[in-house]
Amino acid sequence: MAIADELELVRAQALADIAAAKSSEELDKVRVAVIGKSGALTKYLRSMGEVPKEERAQVGRAVNEARAVVEEALAARKETISQDELAAAIDAAAVDITLPGRAQQIGSRHLVSRITDEISEVFLGLGYNVVEGPEVETDYYNFTALNAPADHPSRSMADTFYVVDRSGEKSAVKGESDVLLRTQTSGVQVHTMEDQELPIYIIAPGKVYRRDVADPSHLPQFHQIEGLAIDKGITFGDLKGTLEFFCRQVFGQDRKTRFRAHYFPFTEPSAEVDVSCGICHGEGCRFCKHTGWLEILGCGMVDPNVLEMSGIDSEVYSGFAFGVGVERVACLKYNVPDLRMLLEGDMRFLRQF
Ligand code: DAH
Repeated sequence: MAIADELELVRAQALADIAAAKSSEELDKVRVAVIGKSGALTKYLRSMGEVPKEERAQVGRAVNEARAVVEEALAARKETISQDELAAAIDAAAVDITLPGRAQQIGSRHLVSRITDEISEVFLGLGYNVVEGPEVETDYYNFTALNAPADHPSRSMADTFYVVDRSGEKSAVKGESDVLLRTQTSGVQVHTMEDQELPIYIIAPGKVYRRDVADPSHLPQFHQIEGLAIDKGITFGDLKGTLEFFCRQVFGQDRKTRFRAHYFPFTEPSAEVDVSCGICHGEGCRFCKHTGWLEILGCGMVDPNVLEMSGIDSEVYSGFAFGVGVERVACLKYNVPDLRMLLEGDMRFLRQF
């Protein structure tokens, strides 16, 4: 075959391969195969010596022309492929802005915190201050200074969480300790009587701990709000009026309250306060165990002994105290049948409040 025809074939094949190349790599392979060091066209330039003299100039021109055409085709194809590849990369990285977004869950105050605030507001409005006491207490503040007899069952290791010093102190060796997780906020009464000037009007919200297994009406850790008022001439009438006002503010004007005689070591006389059931309105139902009433707090006139132990003259001053369970109030206010529901973190439940 004449060289001119061969060149024509090589050129046609090269242009076809260039057109068929689908990626930069494929195109580069074609380039190497045609105009690379030992490419199909380059071969002709290298073997120019074998071409008869009189044909050399003509063949040379034809090879160079073929080369120029191929190079041009390569450049054009390269441009198209780069654009396609860029477009594909952009497509692959594209964000579908029509997809619905993921909503952020915005937190809110827990019902227990809300009720604590609500109760605190009522007493702040009556001129009380809010104070806090330690959750890790000594036996003295939790029991002794509150008149709790040394043989009271709640003082046993099996009934209260004791913080045992394992460093080898004498009490720890014997397995005894006088440091405990407070079982009630009542110890804050003692701290306040020791530290503050009279008269005293305080409430003290906080966590308390009991060796109770969680069930619908018990939790091993819960919140109380303690109240203490000490002044000259405080009577049981002040206690009743204050707590009745508190109950109506929190539960609503339509709920009734009643005081039932009870016993607490640090108050005399003592009472428990019930509020009428919000579900049956006093008729009797499962929620109120068919009594029509729900117990919400303990209270009483501060025992003169307790005043004296904290250095207050019980001949001059008198006072009342009360303790409310916050989880209990939350459940009774919103008719929640099980205290444990407050702790489960179920948003469907918590969002209702
Ligand atoms: N501390 C008691 C308890 O945890 C509740 C209580 C009762 C507190 C009578 C008081 C009170 O201040 O006067 O069961």
